[in-house]
Amino acid sequence: MNEKILIVEDDLNTLEGLAEILEHENFQVVKAKNGRIATEEARKGNINVVLMDYLLPDTDGLELSRIFLEQNPDIKIVMMTAFGSVKNAVESMKLGIYDYLTKPIDLDELLIVIKRAIKEQQLIYENIDLKDKIQETYRFDNIIGVSGKMQEIFKKVLKVANTDATVLLRGESGTGKELIARAIHFQSSRKGKSLIEINCASIPETLLESELFGHEKGAFTGAYKSKKGKFELAHKGSLFLDEIGELPLGVQAKLLRVLQDRTFTRVGGIENIEVDVRLIAATNKNLEQAMEKRLFREDLYYRLNVIPIFIPNLRERPEDIGPLTDFFIQKYAQKNSKQINGITQEGMELLLEYHWPGNIRELENTIENAIVMTDTDKIELSDLPGYLQSQIATEVKDRPYFPQFFSDQDKTNYKDQILLCEREIIRRALQESKGNKTHAARRLGFSLRTLRNKVQRLKIQSTKE
Ligand SMILES: Nc1ncnc2c1ncn2[C@@H]1O[C@H](COP(=O)(O)OP(=O)(O)OP(=O)(O)O)[C@@H](O)[C@H]1O
Ligand SMILES: [Mg+2]
Repeated sequence: MNEKILIVEDDLNTLEGLAEILEHENFQVVKAKNGRIATEEARKGNINVVLMDYLLPDTDGLELSRIFLEQNPDIKIVMMTAFGSVKNAVESMKLGIYDYLTKPIDLDELLIVIKRAIKEQQLIYENIDLKDKIQETYRFDNIIGVSGKMQEIFKKVLKVANTDATVLLRGESGTGKELIARAIHFQSSRKGKSLIEINCASIPETLLESELFGHEKGAFTGAYKSKKGKFELAHKGSLFLDEIGELPLGVQAKLLRVLQDRTFTRVGGIENIEVDVRLIAATNKNLEQAMEKRLFREDLYYRLNVIPIFIPNLRERPEDIGPLTDFFIQKYAQKNSKQINGITQEGMELLLEYHWPGNIRELENTIENAIVMTDTDKIELSDLPGYLQSQIATEVKDRPYFPQFFSDQDKTNYKDQILLCEREIIRRALQESKGNKTHAARRLGFSLRTLRNKVQRLKIQSTKE
């Protein structure tokens, strides 16, 4: 057992005596003879249980408990009182103090109470762990990307996840920046701690500073209570600053200071607060242009741009359209309790030809909508929104073989183009063979094993073996 117990007691004999007993029980013990030292020790963190005298020279136990519980609601506080008055007990319980013991302390009772407190605390932590597991949607396997470009991004995410370096995610709207930000956190050693997200665009400038850095009671009208900001809440975890390009200049200055010194003060506060936070920022804005217009600070830009990750548009990686479509069909068929076996040939061709200005979000919405609308067990052309077709109708009709898979920007990425064509040919072969892999493999000139490998690697959905 290595739980940490903080003993707060001004009577030095009692303090030493209790410390010895608890150390003998293999607890890590921290001693404090007054409220000030106790507060300093508590701020260092990792305290499981506080054993506290009710009467202290510089403060009282209730006041101190209030502060500790505000900092860490899971901390277990055991109060020691010479009076044992009922009033104290009721007040303590209301405040969230775990238990209280009357002096002189019965040592057996003390150990029982402490061990019970730790047990309860562990249950709470285990529960948090469980919740983490439920957040599986943010893990890697739910981010689809067979294209070379996405594979590169996955590699980069794995590399940077376990560092504390600031990551700046760039990319058009709907390309998956938020998803990647979460993947970075959940792949990192900070995954057991919080990932706090804040969207800089959706909060009015007047509130943004207090949202990020917290405020003290009375800092401004309406600040009835002091409040922790996102930076404090993200302590030991990660903070995701979404739409960082929208950050007002005033807040940019304060953010810069945190990045430089790792400390800040709450709005209306004087105390320097230190935090250990991993920062992930995202924007779809052209920050370089914003810098030229003096809307974004250059020094902040360099602090944020430690590890830039550019997420390509969907039209630059058309080979992901098929796997994403299959993924979303499965997801929304399940959500709507429908039995849907993919999409027709014409439907898929349309999806591959469209240029997806809204990127993956637009594709996802299109599929969700089609799943809801369709009356058959396959998504058909008529289930897809009309504007997809009218967009494409304006483009040239005469095309060489498979031209629609080649993106405009990247005709030289032959490897990706081969992958894309390969996937499409295999998909067609499987479809024509009605999912019979042996049959399809023969037509493709592959061994069955090769076909299976390719189906898996290229994430091709096939219903039958
Ligand atoms: N590679 C992917 N695999 C599966 N789903 C994805 C992928 N990329 C994005 N999505 C989905 O597309 C939608 C948009 O993604 P996300 O919110 O991460 O985009 P964004 O880049 O943050 O967009 P914005 O700039 O508009 O905030 C989400 O529902 C997300 O789950
Ligand atoms: Mg986003």
